[in-house]
Amino acid sequence: MSDEWPVDFTQDLQQQLIAIRRRLHQYPELSHEEYETTAAIRRWLEEADIRICSYELKTGIVAEVGGLLPGPIVAIRADIDALPIQEETGLPFASLAAGKMHACGHDFHTAAVVGAALLLKQHEDRLRGTVRLLFQPAEEKAKGARALIQAGALDGVSAIFGMHNKPDLPVGTVGIKEGAIMAAADGFVVEITGLGSHAAVPEAGIDPIVAAAHIVTALQSVVSRNIGPLQSAVISVTQLHSGTTWNVIPEKAVLDGTIRTFDEHVRAHVLERFREVVQGVAAAYGTTAEIRWIQGPPPVINDASLVPLALAAAEESGLRAVEPVPSPAGEDFAWYQREVPGVFVFMGTSGSREWHHPAFDLDEAALAPSARFFAHLAGKALLELS
Ligand code: NI
Repeated sequence: MSDEWPVDFTQDLQQQLIAIRRRLHQYPELSHEEYETTAAIRRWLEEADIRICSYELKTGIVAEVGGLLPGPIVAIRADIDALPIQEETGLPFASLAAGKMHACGHDFHTAAVVGAALLLKQHEDRLRGTVRLLFQPAEEKAKGARALIQAGALDGVSAIFGMHNKPDLPVGTVGIKEGAIMAAADGFVVEITGLGSHAAVPEAGIDPIVAAAHIVTALQSVVSRNIGPLQSAVISVTQLHSGTTWNVIPEKAVLDGTIRTFDEHVRAHVLERFREVVQGVAAAYGTTAEIRWIQGPPPVINDASLVPLALAAAEESGLRAVEPVPSPAGEDFAWYQREVPGVFVFMGTSGSREWHHPAFDLDEAALAPSARFFAHLAGKALLELS
């Protein structure tokens, strides 16, 4: 199969992709505001004579290569948005937009997938089907994937592939695994209502702060007592607000935070126990609790039947596949995998900082190899799925 789908890696491509990535890096745009980014991607694709699809999108763009020979459609997805972070890398091509930065490396993803499109275009007449390139907006707000799905960008697609750069994996490696690789990322807000009173006369009121404190403590038992030792979950309470002054027991306390899980059964169980603990403890202290869920994307679960294809594509394109440690961060790529089988990989980028750090960086040497990997993988997938 590999003989039927060789893709050349040239130094020219690498230089081109560095230029693309740096252009994106200098002009980062936040979720839902990726107008210039979209226009730039369109220009690069059109210059290569790659056809743009006409899905109705405010930002983001979808393109296709192939279709000259009959066959299935496979998709490659890149996210394109940046973060509201002031860059502190000191790089000569650092962000020119104050308070905005490609601190998650989506500029890298975009450049690499443009590169894959350019490589696929060079071999378009031999593609056994169509490769659809999804340049997705608003990943950081976990909204863009569903917008693309609603616009129809997954229609007819048999398989989808995507990546996140991974600072702790060296360039030349790619993390590929079956099953969960990123977490479901749910949020919660809990409002606890008691009865205000003079701080010196607590018996006249119902103290929501004491209830909130016990809720925070009791929630720690959900992961330790309700989840098996071989499974995992995280509950973090990250805000707790109440009160206005020292001598008043307030009426309300509000806490919020996040729940991360890698399995839908664990997710459902944690959410159920969360609700029971919050309501039960609140009631025990005479307060009432109102829970608001902020449902995030499901876990990113890689399709077992497509993983061998990705492993083979890695080897054949000169990358070393490694077993990655799953990340408890969320990724809205998971929404695509609800619709079609997919594989999400971690591309090694030898970064010195983690995602979302103001000094986040990556080694651009990974650009062309990533482009080559995805072009090769898509070509192989078309053959496999024909
Ligand atoms: Ni990201």
